[in-house]
Amino acid sequence: WTTMGDDVEAILRLKAERNAVILAHNYMRPEIFHGVADIVGDSLALARKAVDVDADVIVLAGVHFMAETAKLLNPSKTVLIPDLRSGCSLAESITPADVRALRAAHPGVPVVTYVNTSAAVKAESDICCTSGNAVKVIESLGVPKVIMIPDRFLAANVARQTGVEVITHPGACEVHERFTPLDIAQIRTDYPGVTVLAHPECPPEVVDAADYAGSTAQMVDYVDAKAPTQVALITECSMSDNVAQLYPEVDFVRPCNLCPHMKRNTLGSIRHALETMTNEVTVPADVAEAARRSVERMLAIGA
Ligand code: 13P
Ligand code: SF4
Repeated sequence: WTTMGDDVEAILRLKAERNAVILAHNYMRPEIFHGVADIVGDSLALARKAVDVDADVIVLAGVHFMAETAKLLNPSKTVLIPDLRSGCSLAESITPADVRALRAAHPGVPVVTYVNTSAAVKAESDICCTSGNAVKVIESLGVPKVIMIPDRFLAANVARQTGVEVITHPGACEVHERFTPLDIAQIRTDYPGVTVLAHPECPPEVVDAADYAGSTAQMVDYVDAKAPTQVALITECSMSDNVAQLYPEVDFVRPCNLCPHMKRNTLGSIRHALETMTNEVTVPADVAEAARRSVERMLAIGA
């Protein structure tokens, strides 16, 4: 068998040999996040950083839609994903045909699509958003009504913040939909004075019960700016583990739900992808152009 140290050493060597960089989402295990990643961040940061990569190979330690987005934005690079089965309950909830049906039912209403979707769904959309810029993207359109897909909770949370009427789709993140207001009440009872930060993929009642809602990177920014004594991050399990190492003076309460798709990324699967140069993610040419346009419109907003 190999130890974690062997895998880290091999990955660092392979990165140099292959001229590869590892872009890792905030939900990666600490040994990936702190041990081998070159760039870490939320979905928005990873998309932005993918544009500027000039290495030959990008290993996207995250889920499939993130690898597709990196490929869309930097098509000449070889994009690998440690495990091709790393999906997402949101991306799987919606098809291009669903988007066409929504458009037909609501003619003229712009389609704003969460990045947690396939490139084929992005190709049917007008503009993308992430949890970090959804409000800015919606406000940039200057319209009273949008189709915002596929996360019904993110859509409901954004509708309340913007006053824009939102037509949505019954998708949800299997990690965040499981949190309840009762969970938050219990945390506040157990840890009086705790600061509660929730992800906007949580149901609106959970966001209401929290002190702040934001993307994973916005949660880190909040901890950095406000230096709370004790904090509960209402999101995926690895988030607290990773951020706690960056802020040892902050006490992290650890309520969490695990994302099985994110957890398919291991040191072993990253090493294997780099050793064998397998699990390449590509986007068919007939889809790529329109999908890229939706993502680039989002990035142009500068949110
Ligand atoms: P962000 O990191 O953009 O907040 O997204 C969270 C998430 O669930 C990604 O899959
Ligand atoms: Fe998808 Fe939720 Fe997992 Fe993110 S945490 S990849 S949104 S299922």
